[in-house]
Amino acid sequence: MNPSHSTVVQIVVNGVPLQARAGTSVAAALAQQAPGTARTSITGAPRAPLCGMGVCHECRVRINGRTRLACQTVCADGMLIHTDVGTAPGSATP
Ligand code: FES
Repeated sequence: MNPSHSTVVQIVVNGVPLQARAGTSVAAALAQQAPGTARTSITGAPRAPLCGMGVCHECRVRINGRTRLACQTVCADGMLIHTDVGTAPGSATP
């Protein structure tokens, strides 16, 4: 499927430009690309969005410099998203 120009937004995930359908949550956009995770636990285990409704906080990412819940945030044009927030000191990129 090739969505029309008006239904697509451009986002950047960890420096990689991506397209997402307008209205898609950041969690859904992350799930559409490998590895599909949002962060790493303090033990190093990959963590992905779980509840999809703002309860589990497994989807924490940094969006435009602020830590946000990916499942509660709708993709917007030009959004800069960094995964792996909230793990070892220095692991979260700006
Ligand atoms: S997936 Fe659980 S808070 Fe976002």
